[in-house]
Parts: sequence; C-alpha cells; structure tokens
Amino acid sequence: MKAFILFFACVLVVPRLALAEGGDTTKVALESNAEHDARMKWWRDARFGMFIHWGVYAVAAGEWNGQNVQTAGEWIMNGADIPVDEYEPLAARFNPVKYDPAEWVRAAKDAGMRYIVITAKHHDGFCLFDTETTDWDVVDATPFGADVLKPLADECREQGLHFCTYYSIMDWHHTAQQHGPHTYNPTLIDPARKQEYVVYMKTQLRELLDSCDPEVLWFDGEWPDWWTEADGRDLYNYLRVLKPTIIVNNRVAKGREGMAGLTKDDAQHAGDFGTPEQEIPATGIPGVDWESCMTMNGTWGFHKYDVNWKSSETLIRNLVDIASKGGNYLLNVGPMANGEIPPESIARLAEIGRWMKVNGESIYGTSASPIAAVPWGRLTAKQQGEQETLFLHVFDWPNDEKLHVPGLTKKVTAARLLATEDALPLSLDGADVIVDLPTTPVDRVDTVIALEVARGLDTAAE
Ligand code: GLC
Repeated sequence: MKAFILFFACVLVVPRLALAEGGDTTKVALESNAEHDARMKWWRDARFGMFIHWGVYAVAAGEWNGQNVQTAGEWIMNGADIPVDEYEPLAARFNPVKYDPAEWVRAAKDAGMRYIVITAKHHDGFCLFDTETTDWDVVDATPFGADVLKPLADECREQGLHFCTYYSIMDWHHTAQQHGPHTYNPTLIDPARKQEYVVYMKTQLRELLDSCDPEVLWFDGEWPDWWTEADGRDLYNYLRVLKPTIIVNNRVAKGREGMAGLTKDDAQHAGDFGTPEQEIPATGIPGVDWESCMTMNGTWGFHKYDVNWKSSETLIRNLVDIASKGGNYLLNVGPMANGEIPPESIARLAEIGRWMKVNGESIYGTSASPIAAVPWGRLTAKQQGEQETLFLHVFDWPNDEKLHVPGLTKKVTAARLLATEDALPLSLDGADVIVDLPTTPVDRVDTVIALEVARGLDTAAE
C-alpha cells in the first residue's frame, strides 16, 4: 500500500492550446517521490479545511410542498422526486444578498481552517460560477446575477487560505443524463451523448481553473456505471496537464472503493487522496493521504429541519482523532439561501477556533501517532529541528493526575502544557513515561501536553 503514493503523475508543462476538451493524448509523466511530496505539502500540513455545500437547494431548505424531505438538503431534487422543470424555478429565488465572502473566509480562518472546498456544481447540475456552457448557473439563472465563487477565491487568497472546488460528475440537469420519470440516482447516460457530456465537464473545469484557480478539485457523483475508471484517469490527466500542481481526490475515478488496493499502473491518475465520508477510519489509511469529510449536523446542504448538531467537543475531538491517524478533517457548513452560514455552525466554528488558537501547533504539520492507542486520548507527532515533539491530547484527565505514556522508550527530555508553557515533571514507571499533571485540565475537551523526545531514537528499548 505504501507504494501507492509513489506513483503519481508529474509536471509536464504543455501549452493550454494543445489540450483539446474532446480528448487529448498528452500525458503527465510519473513524478518522483520528492515532487509528489512537494505537490502535497501544503495540503498535508493544513490538516483542517472547510467544506461548503451551497446551491439553489438552499432555497428549498429541506422542504418541498410543505413537507420535510428526509434527505440531505442538497439531495432534495432526488428525495422529493422533483421534475427538472419544477426544480428550475428555485434559481429565481436564489438571491444571497447577505453573502459576504470575506466573512465566510474569516469564519474558516478563525476556526483554524487552512483551506475551503466549495461546491462549484453539485448533483443538481447548478453552477455557482460563470460558465459559457449553460444558463443553469448563478449568473444567468438567478436575480443575484453574479459569480459567487470568484470573490470567494479572491478572499481566500487575500486572507491566506487555499481555495478548492467540489464538482459532481453525475448531473441530474444535463439532458445527456437520463433517468426514469422520478429517479435521478444513479443516472444513465445516452451513449451517443457521453462524449458531449465529457466535453461539457472539461470545458467547465477549464473555465473554473481560469477564473478561480482552485488548488484541489474534489470530485463526487462518480458512481453511475457509465463513468468508468478509464474516464476518471483521463479526467485526472486533463487537470494535471492544465494545472500541474493541482491535487485531485480519489472520487475522480471510483477510487472510493479501491484506492488502497490499486496496483502501480492503476494508481497513476486515480487521484491523490482518499475520502472517507462521515467516518474516521479506525487506524487511518496507512501509506495513503486521506481526508474525512463530515457534517456538523446531518446534512451537507442547508436543511431547516435538521437540528441534530454535534457538540463542539465532538468536533474538536474528531479533528484531533483524525490528525492522530494521519488524516485531514474537512468539516462542512451549509449556508442559507440568503448567503449566511447558519448561526449554529458559526458558534461551533468559533469554539473550535478558541481551541485551535491555543493548540493549533499540535495539529498543523503533524503526523500520525507513532505509538499504539492510549486509553486517555490521542497523540500527534511533529519533527522540529533537532527535536521530535509528541503532543499528548488528554481527553480523560486521570484521577491521580499521573499520565501514563506507554510504549515510549525514546529519550524524553521535557514536558510542558501547551496552553501555559508550564513545565511538567517527568518520571519512569517500568516501560511507561509518567507525566505529572496539574489537578485540573486546562481545557476539559482536550488539554495538550508537548513531550520533547530526542530525535532519531526509535521506540525500541535502549
Ligand atoms: C455524497 C453525497 C453528497 C455530498 C458528498 C460529500 O457523495 O452525494 O451530497 O456532497 O457525499 O462527501
């Protein structure tokens, strides 16, 4: 599995004109480990990003004909079997006059997030950017009449966040994709028009790269049978040739099922990171970059009946849990049709931000815990100069105020509370390192202790 990350495509600078949307034989070459690591670096270091699901479904807000539709907000077209011509008028009511991209980016940044992934086009086919390929977009079909992604991309750059876009391959609105009278998922495609649809996607993606220059392309809706592994690899290749530094998720090529088991040849062009959804893999996905995407309540797109909000304690601990297993956390918000992020989400982002302000060092640029699971919390690790730091995330404060760190025979040189910089006494108890804690936690959600260990020594007994 480790070999998986070694075989990704690399930079070949090809003039854009050489790349026809209809099909191109130019291939990106294999990249070296160092080139691959360089391309993935910002994303690996970031650890925490904001997912944004926004579109005309936010107007319906989970309700159709007075009924609470029990699917995620962005799935209402399928959940309520809404015919295309009855769904389209939602666009006429999409007028996000309170949309303030600077506020959104600030909310993400203050929460400690380092990147934003927003739905450029979800399964309903509606485009939040300006495209020449269709009028089913925010510029042509809504009273708002302006691109909403470009200002967000600009704000991200202004405030130092990485701007990224989600894009659905399945498209319930495109006439080449067929469905029964009331079933959208999964779509079928008119075989005579598949190539036309692929060109449509490639044209839109090029437009997106030109206008917003996203750093990640986050695909979804790859499960219809008509979308093949080969189609995915071709699309991956297309994007990497257009923008060699771009990072693409595994759903471009049905990687959700098979990413970890891919052979060398298959791995090339099958995507750069895994995408567990609404779950945290028990032991991470060793040897593979991955990102867990999760909601704050139960929906991605805004749904007014979904009040099943997770606590900020759960969200912070999820972030820590994921980092301790070597992954990224992509935490979703579903803005309302007026352009505001729900206040429940804003409150949780602020609480996560308070924790991150004190403890961010134990998340950014860290790697998975080098030791087995501990009963009191989680560990993250970081190389810093001559020292390696282990961050002990204490979820459950020991009654005797003695924190046992098992399986660690590296030379531990110091321990300190990250929040206060106060040094903590250390001792040994058999194979365990013991850290003497104060009587009460600094933060009952997760108090972090930084343990400095001499670099280069492994966990074997000396
Ligand atoms: C699913 C859903 C979709 C959501 C996505 C996020 O595949 O179809 O609505 O955007 O997951 O991962």
